[in-house]
Amino acid sequence: MASNGVAVTDGNGAAHKFNPHFTQAVINATGPKASPRVRKLTASLIQHLHDFARENELTVDEWMAGLELMNEAGRMSDDRRNEGQLLCDIFGLESLVDEITYKLASDAKDEPTATAILGPFWRKDAPEKQMGDTIVSGIDSEGDKTWMHGIVTDFVTGKPIEGATLDVWHTAPNGLYEQQDPDQPEMNLRGRFTTGKDGTYNFYCLRPVPYPIPYDGPAGKILQAMDRHPYRPAHIHFIITASGYKPIVTQIFDRNSKYIEDDAVFAVKDSLIVDFKPYQGDPKADFELPYDFKLASFEAAKNHSMVGATEASAAGVGAKI
Ligand code: BEZ
Ligand code: FE
Repeated sequence: MASNGVAVTDGNGAAHKFNPHFTQAVINATGPKASPRVRKLTASLIQHLHDFARENELTVDEWMAGLELMNEAGRMSDDRRNEGQLLCDIFGLESLVDEITYKLASDAKDEPTATAILGPFWRKDAPEKQMGDTIVSGIDSEGDKTWMHGIVTDFVTGKPIEGATLDVWHTAPNGLYEQQDPDQPEMNLRGRFTTGKDGTYNFYCLRPVPYPIPYDGPAGKILQAMDRHPYRPAHIHFIITASGYKPIVTQIFDRNSKYIEDDAVFAVKDSLIVDFKPYQGDPKADFELPYDFKLASFEAAKNHSMVGATEASAAGVGAKI
């Protein structure tokens, strides 16, 4: 209640009993040289943080516990482990930001391949490969060998895209990415393939398996406190880039995988669910996996009001990856 007897409300219009001027005073501390975007984001963040604290009557002990989790996440992060990203992932934030960044206007008659989160295990400079090569090295006897193939096309014209690069990575049959596992060869299960004139690609990989995201740190503690499991359904990651086209960061998911309905990081989209088909006649593959990728040119992306559809935003993705 304010001194004049009027109930004070938070950013959502809900009544509260705390200092009615405090949040605005903190927002007003922003200086004149802050950019409009920084001003907008920080004002909104402050408002939401304060509303969260007031709504839940957050105590100093609870705030300190949260802070300690964040500090622990910082201490255990390095170029092989990104605990901050994991924390965002279990709260669905990376998936939500991915959706916001790449959403198409709903009037588009056809759509490019859907995006999905990058996750913390991409590595730059994966080995460049030739079409028909395998990305499997050193673990020949394990896993279901798979021949993956398809075409990369322009989603508006349907024409094949020459010079599109597919950067692919997935886990080993033990559920670990190579940088998590000293027993795997460097860059195992990673590769970059570039399409020729006909836009097609093909390579050998393994049928991926479900695996837990690392849960020995703060993200794991929160999952446990929330009574949640840490597993992701089996998936293969891709970044598809081509000159003049919006890059696509995505994943494809095995329809028959456990956790397909219950991804710990909320990244599964219907159009990204695929079928591994038993394959005969090729000693190098037990399964076949056909999948085509459709890219939007910058021009088409603008015409379809695609959020972030600029060369500059693509450079942003490039900077991140
Ligand atoms: C991944 O798919 O590699 C991943 C995504 C989010 C958190 C952990 C792993
Ligand atoms: Fe993954």
